[in-house]
Order: sequence, then C-alpha cells, then structure tokens
Amino acid sequence: MAEQTRDGGLVFYVNGKKITEKNPDPETMLLSYLRMKLWLTGTKYGCGGGGCGACTVMVSRYDPQNKIITHFSVNACLLPVCQLHGASVTTVEGIGSTNTKLHPVQERIAKAHGSQCGFCTPGMVMSMYTLLRNNPQPSLDEVTEALAGNLCRCTGYRPIVDGYRTFCESKKCCQVNGTACCMANENRSEDAAVISEPELFSKDGLLPLDPTQDLIFPPELMRLAETQERITQKFSGERMTWFCPGSLDELLQLKADYPQAPIVMGNTNIGLDMKFKGVFHPVLISPTRVLELFKVTEKPEGVCVGAGCSMSVLKGVLEKTIRSFPPENTHTFRALLQQINLLGGQQIRNVATLGGNIVSAYPNSDLTPVLAAGRCTLVALSKEGRRRVAIDKDFFLGFAKTALKPDEIVLSVFIPASRKDEVVHAFRHAPRKENALATVNAGMRAWFNENSNVVKEISIYYGGVGPTIVSAEVVCQHIIGRPWEDATLSDGYRALIDDITLEASAPGGKVDFRRSLTLSLLFKFNLLVQQYLQEKNVTQKEIPNEMQSVIQPLPKHIQPSYQEFQDVVEAQPSQDPVGRPVVHRTALSQATGEAVYCDDLPHTDGELFLAIVTSSRAHAKITHIDFGESLKTPGVVDVITADDIPSKKFRTFIGFDEDLLTESEVTCVGQTICGVVADSKAHAKRGAASVKITYEDVQDRIFTLEEAIEKQSFYLPEWKIERGDVGKGLNEAEQVHEGEIRIGGQEHFYMETQSFLVVPVGEEKEMKVYLSTQHPTMTQEAVAETLGIPSNRVSCHVKRVGGAFGGKVTKTSVLASITAVAAWKTGRAVRCVLERGEDMLITGGRNPVWGKYKVGFMKNGRIAAADFQYYANGGNTGDESVLVVEKILLHLDNAYNIPNLRGQSVACRTNLPSNTAFRGFGVPQCMLVIENMISDVALKLGRLPEEIREINMYKEVSLTHYKMEFDPENLVRCWNECKEKADILRRRQAIDIFNQQNQYKKRGIAIVPIKYGVGFSEGFLNQAAALVHIYKDGSVLVSHGGIELGQGIHTKVQQVASRELNIPASLIHICETSTESVPNTCPSAASFGTDANGMAVKAACQILYERLEPIRKQNPKATWQNWVMTAFLERISLSATGYYRGHDLYMDWKKQEGRPYAYFTYAVCCSEVELDCLTGEYRTLRTDMVVDIGRSINPSIDIGQIEGAFMQGLGLFTMEELKFSPSGVLYTRGPGQYKIPAFCDVPLKFKVYLLANSSNPHAIYSSKGIGEPCLFLGSSVFLAIKDAVAAARKDAGLTEPFTLNSPATPERACLACSTRFTKMVLERKAESASGSSQPWALDI
Ligand SMILES: Cc1cc2nc3c(=O)[nH]c(=O)nc-3n(C[C@H](O)[C@H](O)[C@H](O)COP(=O)(O)OP(=O)(O)OC[C@H]3O[C@@H](n4cnc5c(N)ncnc54)[C@H](O)[C@@H]3O)c2cc1C
Ligand code: FES
Ligand code: FES
Repeated sequence: MAEQTRDGGLVFYVNGKKITEKNPDPETMLLSYLRMKLWLTGTKYGCGGGGCGACTVMVSRYDPQNKIITHFSVNACLLPVCQLHGASVTTVEGIGSTNTKLHPVQERIAKAHGSQCGFCTPGMVMSMYTLLRNNPQPSLDEVTEALAGNLCRCTGYRPIVDGYRTFCESKKCCQVNGTACCMANENRSEDAAVISEPELFSKDGLLPLDPTQDLIFPPELMRLAETQERITQKFSGERMTWFCPGSLDELLQLKADYPQAPIVMGNTNIGLDMKFKGVFHPVLISPTRVLELFKVTEKPEGVCVGAGCSMSVLKGVLEKTIRSFPPENTHTFRALLQQINLLGGQQIRNVATLGGNIVSAYPNSDLTPVLAAGRCTLVALSKEGRRRVAIDKDFFLGFAKTALKPDEIVLSVFIPASRKDEVVHAFRHAPRKENALATVNAGMRAWFNENSNVVKEISIYYGGVGPTIVSAEVVCQHIIGRPWEDATLSDGYRALIDDITLEASAPGGKVDFRRSLTLSLLFKFNLLVQQYLQEKNVTQKEIPNEMQSVIQPLPKHIQPSYQEFQDVVEAQPSQDPVGRPVVHRTALSQATGEAVYCDDLPHTDGELFLAIVTSSRAHAKITHIDFGESLKTPGVVDVITADDIPSKKFRTFIGFDEDLLTESEVTCVGQTICGVVADSKAHAKRGAASVKITYEDVQDRIFTLEEAIEKQSFYLPEWKIERGDVGKGLNEAEQVHEGEIRIGGQEHFYMETQSFLVVPVGEEKEMKVYLSTQHPTMTQEAVAETLGIPSNRVSCHVKRVGGAFGGKVTKTSVLASITAVAAWKTGRAVRCVLERGEDMLITGGRNPVWGKYKVGFMKNGRIAAADFQYYANGGNTGDESVLVVEKILLHLDNAYNIPNLRGQSVACRTNLPSNTAFRGFGVPQCMLVIENMISDVALKLGRLPEEIREINMYKEVSLTHYKMEFDPENLVRCWNECKEKADILRRRQAIDIFNQQNQYKKRGIAIVPIKYGVGFSEGFLNQAAALVHIYKDGSVLVSHGGIELGQGIHTKVQQVASRELNIPASLIHICETSTESVPNTCPSAASFGTDANGMAVKAACQILYERLEPIRKQNPKATWQNWVMTAFLERISLSATGYYRGHDLYMDWKKQEGRPYAYFTYAVCCSEVELDCLTGEYRTLRTDMVVDIGRSINPSIDIGQIEGAFMQGLGLFTMEELKFSPSGVLYTRGPGQYKIPAFCDVPLKFKVYLLANSSNPHAIYSSKGIGEPCLFLGSSVFLAIKDAVAAARKDAGLTEPFTLNSPATPERACLACSTRFTKMVLERKAESASGSSQPWALDI
C-alpha cells in the first residue's frame, strides 16, 4: 500500500513558533513534549488521563473548506504529538507573562484569590482563555461549563468563579467598572446595606480583554491546509508505527493491511488503555485528515453525522438540528444533546469522537443507550464494501466488543428524527454531577398509536448494569400493546427487577443501588411520558403534585457569593499590609505558568529517572526477584534494592519501623520493593514493568476493621480518657441509645504528585534534595541516615508545594530516601515523580474510622453521658496513626459539655497501604461521630438536631474532658450569628413545607459547630526559626521554616516582615525553604505554620529594626535605603535570626489532663441541600459559615483556607470513596474512579463571615490558625443530606435513628431513603440471598 512519508514531516506551531518534527515518536503526548522538549513547564501533569485538566492547552486549526479557524481546549496528556500536523498550540506561556504583559484571564484568577498552591491554575487559565477566544462575553453557565473538566484541590472553586464571572455580560450590569461586570458583587446590596464594606477583590483597574493581545493563527498553517497533499504520513518510534492516512481509500487499505491496529481519534479510550492497562499496539492508524469522517448531512428523516465528529461538534450539529426540525421530531436529538452536555469535561468533549464512543463499547457510554433506543444506525466500511448496521443489542457483543469486523471502520452514524407520537428520553446518574462516568444511564423510547396512549413500540436500554449496554426486553414485552397507565408500568417495574440482575461481584459494585436506579429511571420516564400524553390531550390523568418535582432537575445556578470580614482600623498606615486581603504573593507567577514546582526544575545532563516497583500482593513472602528482563530494557541503567542502601534501611515513625524497600515480606499491595533507574521516564517505567517478582501468599490477611478487632491487630497504645462517671450517667439517664457510624478514608489528591530530584554534589558526600514536602528536616534526616552521612551534607530545598494536606510528610521522606539511594549508587542526579495512580496506591490517605457510641439523655434533650469507641484503619505500617487516634480522643467532645464522657481509641494494623496524616488529623472523623450521635438523640426525642446541639453546647468558661480551661464565648457568638445569618428558623419551616409537597425530592438543613485545638500537643513541634537578611540596596530576603503549600504562609510572613521593618512588602522576597538557611524546622502542619514561623520572622525583624534605630534617630527623614547603607558603612550586621519557642503544650495521659493546644478556633456552619431520593443525587443550595479566626492577618487567604477546607470536607463526607478489591488492591487510582469535588459541587449560595471583634492573645497579631479546622464544616452537608433522608423515611413511616455512613454518596443516600424502588430491590435480594457471590469491593 501507499506508505509515503511527507518530506516535511510533522509541522505545527507552539505559541507562535514553528516546529518541524521529522519523525516524532507515536508514544509521545503533547504534555511531555511541551515539558521535556520545549521546556514549557507551565502546563502541568496532574493525572495523565484526561481527568483533572491541569494539562489544558488550546489547539487551533484552520478548516480550509469553511475558511474558519477553530479553537478548542484539550488535555495535552492525551493528545499524541503525531496528531498535531497543521495545528497551532497555545500554552499558558503563550498568552501573557509577568515579564511582558499579563493576560486578563491570568490577572483575574490571581487577583480574585483563585490560585492557592497554583498547580491547577495554568489549566484553569487555559480553559477560560479558550472560552473567551470563542466567546468574549460568556454567560456564567458557559464559564462553569468550560471549567467543569478542571479540578482544584485547594480553593473550593468559589474565588475562581468570582474572578471569571467578571467576564460575563450582564444586562443588569451598571458598567461602572468598565468592561468588568459589577454583578459579581450584586449580593453585597442584598446582604450588606453599607456599600463601603471591605471587599476581597477589587474589580477596579482590571486589565480589559484585548483581542489584539492574542497570537494570530499562523498564516503558514493556513497555506499548508489549503495546499495540503493528502498522502499518508508515517512515523516510527522505538516501538510503534503511526499512520495518518490522507484519504478514505488509504484508510481502508491501512485497515486491510493492519486489521488489529486501532483507529486513534480523540485517544480518550485507546490512550488510557495504553497508558494505564499496559495495552500495546505496534501500529496505530489516525485518520484525523480523512474528510469523509467529519461530514454532516441533514436529511428530512434525520441527520447523518461523520464518525470522526467530536462530541462538541456533535453538540453543535444537534443544536442546529433541533432548531431546524419540527419539535415533535426532535426527541432523539434532545435526548442525545442532554447526555453530551454532561459527557466528560469540555476538553474531553472537544476531542472524543462519536465513532470512538460507539466502538469503545463502554458499558456506561452515555450515548449508546440513547442511540440504541433511538433506532440509530451506522455505516461500517471496509475495502470489501459498506453495510448499514443497527446500533442495538446485537451490535454490542460484550465489554469493549462490537460486531464490527477487524478491517471495518465506522464511517458515519444516522440519527433518525423521532416520529409523530414518539417520545424519547435519556437518563444518567453519575457519582458527581459533572465530569464523571455514569453509574447507570438509559435511553428510553415509546411510540404510541395515533391519538392513543396504547404503546405501539417501546425500547429501553440501560448502561452501567452489565458488561455492555442492556436491552430491557422483558419489560418492553410487558408494556407493548398496552395503555400507558399505572398498572402497565407496575408490571414493568416488576419485570425489570428480574430482567436486569447483577451479581454482588459485578464490577463497579453498588449492586443494590444500580438495580434501584434502573427502576427509578423507568419511573422518571413513566412520568415524562404521562406529561407528554397529557400535553397531547391523549390522557387526562395529571401527574400528582407531589410527583411533579421528580422530573425537574436539581437547581444548579451558582449565585453571587458573599464574604464578610473586618477592615483594618483607619489609623493603620496604608503601607502596613497586615489585616488586608493581600493577593497571594506568587499568584501571578502561578497564573502565567512561571511558578516553579519540583518537576519543573530543568533536567541536567546525564540525569536519570527512577520508577518504583511495588508489591501486587497484600501479604506474601517474596521468594524471588528477577531483574534480567528489566536490565535488558533499552535505557535502563541500574536497579535499586534494599541491598544498595548504605546505612539505615528503614524509617521509624512514632516507634514503628517502615522498610524503605522490602526484601522478604510484603504486607500490602503497593509496598515499595525496588526501583529501576533509566535515562528517561518511559524507559524506567518499562524497566519497572519487566521486573518479575515471585511471591508465596501468607494466608492471614487483614483488611477490615472487624477482622483487625477480631484478631486484636492493633498499633499500641490504645488510648482511653474519661470524665465523670459514665456508667452512673448512663444509668441515671432517662433514655439510652446505642449507635455507630463509619467514616471512609480519603485520598489527599494534592494536584502535584510526590516529586523528588536528588543531585549528588560530587564531593564530600554532599547531596542536594529538591522536593515537594511539608517537612524538609524530616527528609534531610531520613536521607542522611539512609546514606550514613551527617545531616550537614544533605540540604533539602522546597520552593513551593502543589498541595499537600498532610500527605507530604512521612511517605515523602521514605520516597526521597529511595531516590537518594539511586543517586548515591549511580552518582548521577535522579528524578522521581510519581504518576497519579502510583501516588494514590503507595502513599495512603486519611484513616477510615468506625465510631460506636452509647448515649444517655434526658427528655429535655440534655445529654447526661456518652461512651465512645473508635477504631481507625492504620494500614500496614504505624506511620502517624497512633497520633491520629490520640487526637481523636482530644476532640471527641467537639463543642459539647457532656458531664460524663468516655472515649477509647486504637489504630488497627491491616494489610492495606498505610494511612497517614490528613488535614484535621482524625478530628473530622471523631467530630462526625458525636454529631451523628446528636442527630440520633434528636430523632429519638422527635426534636430538631439544632435544638439538641444548642442545649448541650459549652456556654461558659469550662474545662474540657482533659481539664483545659477555655472560654467558649466566641463559639456561642458564632452559633448565634450563624443561626441568624442563615435564617435557620424560617428556612426550617420552608423546608417542612417543601417536603410535604414533594414525595421524592426532599430538602434538609443542618448547622454544626466546631471547637478545634490549634498547635502540636508535643510542645517541641511548636518552635520555629527564621533568617532575615537586609541587602545594601534595601531589599530584604526572608527565610523561615514554613513551607508554601498554597496556604499562603509566605504571603503572611511577608506581611509580618513588612509591618515589623516598616517597609513596603514589595521590598521583601521569600525565595525557598531550605534546611541550609533555617535548620531543624518543624512540619508545616497542625494549622500552626504562620503562628510559629510568623513569630520567628517577627522576632528577627524586630532585632534588625532595633539595630537600625540609632541610625534612624540620627537621620529620621532619610529613606530606608539610606539607613541600610549607613548601617552597612557603620558595620552594623544586617542579618538576624529569629526564634520562636512556641507554647509549652503537653498532654499527660496518666493524669488525663493537659494543655495540648494553644487555643481553639471556633466556627459554625449551616448548609441546606436538596436531595433526589430516587437517585441519591443532591445539590448544596446554600452554605453560611461564621468563623472565629481572631484578627485575620490576611482575610483573602484565610477565607480561601476556610472555603477550600469546607469543600475538602464536603468531599470527605459526601463523595470521596476509596474502593479496594477483595484481595486488597486499590481500585480507585485516578480522578476517573475517585471523585473529588468539582465546580458543580460549590454551594449555590456560599457565604462566609469572619467573626467580628475577636482577638487571640496566643498567636501572632491576635490571629488564629485556620488551615485545618473548617474541613469538618463540610459535614454540615452530610448532616443536611441525613436530614433530607430522614424526611423521606418519615414518609415511609420510619422515624427511628438510622445508620448513614460517610461519605453519604448517592448510593447510600438513595438506599437510606427507603423508596418503593429500593424496597423492591432489597426484598428481591432477601428472597435470592442464598447464592450471593463475594462483593466486588471490601467494606473496610
Ligand atoms: C476523562 C474522561 C471522561 C469521560 N467521560 C465520559 C462520559 O461521561 N460519558 C461517556 O459516554 N464517555 C466518557 N468518556 C469516554 C469517551 O467518550 C470515549 O473515550 C470517547 O468517546 C472515545 O472516542 P475517541 O475518539 O477518543 O476514541 P479513541 O480513544 O481514539 O478510540 C477508541 C476506540 O474506538 C475505535 N474507533 C474510533 N473511531 C473509530 C471509527 N471511526 N471506526 C472504527 N473504530 C473506531 C478505536 O479503534 C479504538 O478502539 C470519558 C473519557 C475520559 C478520558
Ligand atoms: S494531566 Fe491531563 S487531564 Fe490530568
Ligand atoms: S490552587 Fe488549585 S489545586 Fe492548588
């Protein structure tokens, strides 16, 4: 066949510069090309699988037929470079920079405080930039749609929305801010009469959108497109050959020559298979230049769409078709459009193709059930000819299998117009509202006899309930030929429950829920058809009022947010930044992609990459390791095993040892065994994949807490604390209740995965370690001990960290030590950057906790006694789990004064990857236990939970259960203000009315307080040091022991130094945190970073300020620069260290008393949700919080921490679920399977109030630590869901307390609602329980 290579090879542009690649490697994706070859490191790696948006760039192409240029956002991690011929790529570096000119999308996200750690920011910027290139005045819905494929783990999204809504056109806009829309703050008039209130983000002076700033599409590419010879391009890499045919004939010939070669279009399926499932294809065919695949033809009978059309193109086609066809003929088009709007994120829709979606034959494709139900057909084409094939059950043969012959391609898909009297609907339920594959979806069609409700034809297809889509044929047989009425449908539901069955072991789990969803979706279809027939006057039967909302979507429009904080006093000098909402000091660099993260450091000559090999068994002896194949892999330089460790082979955390590399026995899947070093990441990974390990399983595997308790598999000590006499209290109580709740674990999902670069200096055994950690000193010590060298030879350097949340302390030191061994052994710089899946597998997360309680209470709601027992799943090593369960006992009372209180806690040793610190360190888990207990008491007494909370809250100066005195005045103020601001009394009534009027939609509300102890109970961890240099030009360099994790510590420290030295913040620089400049640092954790490091910097600055005092006195009118130079000439040292000793905190467990915290941060949060009881889907309608953080040093940063923590808590308590297989393998290893909150999860009304007139004598400038406390406030959403579920259960006659474990996923919420459909499923399950197989996932 014709396999000609274009002489010019691949031609494309990046940021206006031409690139010619003679023979690109088909395995290279644009992301690594940008980062490794062009050194454009602004585009980030977050997941590598299209699920996070960190790698978003804009691709522009010229269409010579229609003479238009199209711009679309794409995930660079999935875009093969070989597909770029003729394209112009724009990255974050190409649109603006701090050195030249910023682009408004960069400026606004930064100034609106939408960038914390900044790792997601370039991706956000590029999604928004692409939207504006296509639509300079988008609506807010369009903004959130464009950003739906971008994840952020820090901000909580609200500030990003607020920053970007300034681009929205609004008819109501007063235009006072020029092109910026004043509506961004319209709420202020609603909430605050006083216009002069301080604002977090001023829209004055924002750069206007200026299209002349944009790079033009390269004219050369236009010429190329116009004159392009359509001949096959062929590129050959190390292992793969890539063909890009220029014509349909060539494509068919290639397919005949290489029938097993896949067609690569959007690469969103095949790319994932190759990357994550190890699928290898020696030949790939990418027909993106075959015009016939993109042809769209509208006919009277329907529309024919080329199989190569992307979802975005298909969306446009359907929108146009819907406009041009009579409404009654558009049912199928509308149903498809509805699915496409929710398919993936924008970047995926821009590349994923119709043909690819069909041929991938996903069991939960959103399109195929609708295409099948909607009578669609496709044209299959090969050299042998063409055939028209129905897209139906006979086409889909099984998982990822279709009836297409190997040499056939799909040319086009015909979507017929719906006929008169025909109704088509699509349904989809997913674990997250947007950018998530459906759990169950469906396409349903009914065709009626003319002017009748008798069903002539019916088709029902489900996705997500089998290996491929499933036709509910038995149901259809029960309905066809019968009138559409309740009796018919009731038969249909009964038939469905037998028609669609799922084994307990069915992949994906959630069996009862999925079965229940099939019924609920059919019920929704029933109501939609009733509505249709009624509108057509075919039937008079109306949908009952209480059912109307079943077919209404949940509310989704984000309203303006609101933040209230206290302004600085008028007398404060304007130069003094303390207390002002100063923008994160490197937000602009983050938004332009200039900010440097560990893996952005330039590669050096001879640098090697380390890939880590981990165990695939949960508990086994290693009998043999064979490196033979691995060492033969091209590029592999060496293998690193425990034998290569020169000195200490393990780390000890809290008394428990953890091997760096395991030699003999593995105790979890994901344990580090050895490493492979090679000249590139790809080679190292291939080498690692070729290491063959032979195991001998050890039978006593422990995964669940029940198993651990039964086998007494604990990390001791077991903690215990008691106040009063619990036994007596329980005896004397009027009622006693026992309950429990399980809180699942949580993955940190910091956007930047664990990253290390270890550089041997080459003399005197010095090692430089660049890494992403919260605790450089721990790594320094670990590396030194591992290599057997003193700490003074190891320096750790951290510029910034792309999110950490507790996950970059212990495991980071282990991984850094392994990387250091590789650098030591090879004598070369070694880089190790974990892939997202590896990171999730190896590094563990938050401990799952099982909390059980017995509570005694009085009829008046007063709790007399409570007895708690907590078990935390620690995993295979001790790590910090013992301290987590200690902290659990110190916070078990939350905000409640229970006279007789007892708690016991223990961490369990299991064969799962070890868990570790996570924002809140056990506190969110234990607080949910007590809040759940209070909800139970309220249900028992038939009272409102908020009443029980208020009755039992600490109200006056009190002692905690560990005898620490505190004054809860501000807790009570927060409570009262939150009740008032949230207007909870009135809203409770409105919710009651709503719930009476709606059977399957329920609303719920909850208000929760927190009392959170700040600081480390181990006193020595509260110390900090700083080093401040003043240079002769007056500029100041501050170094301190805190790490910039996105929490804004450097910004706050800069504010502190500015105040203390009385100079503008612009003169102060903070370069990196290094063990060279500040030794013996403590971790940036426990919400104590600014408290400690701020004080140390303050001390250093005060020393310097005093040293300059005589000079200032001599010449008070001189400038700072003059004083500094004079001081230098007078030989006054311009460098000082500052030290902060910290509070003497302690906890004496023998005496059961102590002062483990410096002070408490208080807050109260109220959230309201609307729940769809049929699907368990919910929406947070409104959240109000009042937070006491003393006097905020920087309200924008503090509010950012509050909102971000809240959203992370919302994720913990309502959506984030880690799933393990029965043999202990983590299934959830990326954003595809593990859902963190996205834009769609932001409360529709989100209001944050910082408590006014609060102060705190225990911390710098009267502020309070805020990083962790507010995470628990996300539980208000959990409790509101529980409240809504309780309302549903009440309808079902169930009023007693019930168990709803956390997270309250749609699955759990739906099943707890006890609707007629969940009951049907559970009853049928009980009837057939005998033969049930092992569940797909463990309940750990
Ligand atoms: C992050 C993410 C989110 C997603 N979310 C959703 C979602 O919510 N709903 C949903 O339905 N899907 C979702 N998907 C799946 C996505 O829709 C499909 O992967 C996509 O449609 C496949 O199209 P593609 O062009 O990328 O196919 P490719 O990956 O390029 O190819 C996939 C397969 O199709 C074959 N193929 C492609 N075109 C043809 C053709 N014309 N003729 C014959 N064979 C062909 C290839 O040989 C290959 O086997 C998601 C994917 C990702 C990565
Ligand atoms: S890195 Fe590309 S989408 Fe996550
Ligand atoms: S700022 Fe978005 S991930 Fe950190």
